[in-house]
Amino acid sequence: MLIERLHDKRAVIGIVGLGYVGLPLMLRYGEAGYKVVGFDVDPEKVATLSKGKSYIEHIRSTSIATALDQGFEATTDFTRARDVDALIICVPTPLNRYREPDLSFVIDTIDSLLPYIRRGQVISLESTTYPGTTEEELLPRIESIGLTVGEDVFLVYSPEREDPGNPDFVTRTIPKICGGATKMCLQAGVALYDQIIDQVVPVSSTRAAEMTKLLENIHRAVNIGLVNEMKTVADRMGINIYEVIDAAATKPFGFVPYYPGPGLGGHCIPVDPFYLTWKAREYGLHTRFIELAGEVNSSMPEWVVTKVAEGLNRDSKAVRGSKILVLGIAYKKNVDDMRESPAVEIMELLRNKGAFISYHDPHVLQFPAMRDHKFDLSSDELNPDMLGQHDCIVITTDHDAVDYELVRAHAQLIVDTRGIYRKSEKHIVKA
Ligand SMILES: NC(=O)c1ccc[n+]([C@@H]2O[C@H](COP(=O)([O-])OP(=O)(O)OC[C@H]3O[C@@H](n4cnc5c(N)ncnc54)[C@H](O)[C@@H]3O)[C@@H](O)[C@H]2O)c1
Repeated sequence: MLIERLHDKRAVIGIVGLGYVGLPLMLRYGEAGYKVVGFDVDPEKVATLSKGKSYIEHIRSTSIATALDQGFEATTDFTRARDVDALIICVPTPLNRYREPDLSFVIDTIDSLLPYIRRGQVISLESTTYPGTTEEELLPRIESIGLTVGEDVFLVYSPEREDPGNPDFVTRTIPKICGGATKMCLQAGVALYDQIIDQVVPVSSTRAAEMTKLLENIHRAVNIGLVNEMKTVADRMGINIYEVIDAAATKPFGFVPYYPGPGLGGHCIPVDPFYLTWKAREYGLHTRFIELAGEVNSSMPEWVVTKVAEGLNRDSKAVRGSKILVLGIAYKKNVDDMRESPAVEIMELLRNKGAFISYHDPHVLQFPAMRDHKFDLSSDELNPDMLGQHDCIVITTDHDAVDYELVRAHAQLIVDTRGIYRKSEKHIVKA
């Protein structure tokens, strides 16, 4: 019986998609004493992991090696899906070029698994997506092979919650939402997760679980949009937005501080809200908050570039021909993840205006291959001479490993998009 196997840890856990979400989950199941088989379509990742090496900076190679000792196997062979009791799907859900949901990874995954799905398995989708995906896309495919969901196999949606680079939370301590296609499905889903997560939060349906994840991320996107708009107003009024946020945050109820920045980045916050926007259209609804926040947030790189131009102008310089160093190109502090990073858009806008661009990022030593951007650059070492030789330093990501005092002391002009420098100084422009 599946639930017993899950409870006494005889169950074998299959994780499909060994990325930022799948890998920590694999490690947690291994640590809890389960045998884990990891599936990925990328043979390079599978080969790297099979050698006990990590390809993500904040996941240590020693952790992968320990998992291998505990019985973890990574494979591209989907026939092995027969051998597992649980299939947890953690594949990408990006937007296509019309900014509409691209479910192709999820659909390809379920199609590759279908021949091997068997009675007695629990299948959990973790990828972020619009309400309805699990039951409109996965359920009919699974039932097309003659299995009944809720009787033969159990289907749940359980969104991943992760804050890469934040040491205060680990997979075990982040409560996990779970919604089932039927009551039995939910029971199986809770059994799947409650051995590895301190608190599983059951909800009444897969759609409620899907919507919960979107609410969380839309909440962030909208509040960041709001504070970015407040920043531009405060700037025009000559008020320091960070002083205002810190002061407001002393209110012990009803206020949550969000901080402005150069725009949204990462795989989640700039992308996920538009999954709801797309689905809402089917119901004749416009998601105006989401659109507005998207508009404000996506205008931030342009706004930062305007600030760079103003700063240079004060020094009687043009953007064209200036040497500009972009400091921090990962999308957020202390990680090496470049997905949707606004720093890259800023680099591109400045290059288009004729600036000579270089960058420093202690977490991204080589500018990676990206689908839509190309820079043949590697991270420059920061030192007093090189800082002084640049016309402008644009701080786009506030990594802890950077010596901001060194930058302050030697740069000719700093454009600070992260509120690193709280005091006003002539050569520091807040953006
Ligand atoms: N990164 C985060 O912090 C985070 C947090 C919460 C939710 N999510 C969501 O989790 C999902 C996965 O995100 P991620 O950041 O782990 O992505 P990722 O790109 O790091 O990892 C996805 C993995 O899936 C693999 N893959 C692609 N197609 C496949 C297929 N058909 N079969 C098997 N493997 C396949 C890729 O090779 C890759 O290794 C997305 O829906 C994302 O929105 C991400």
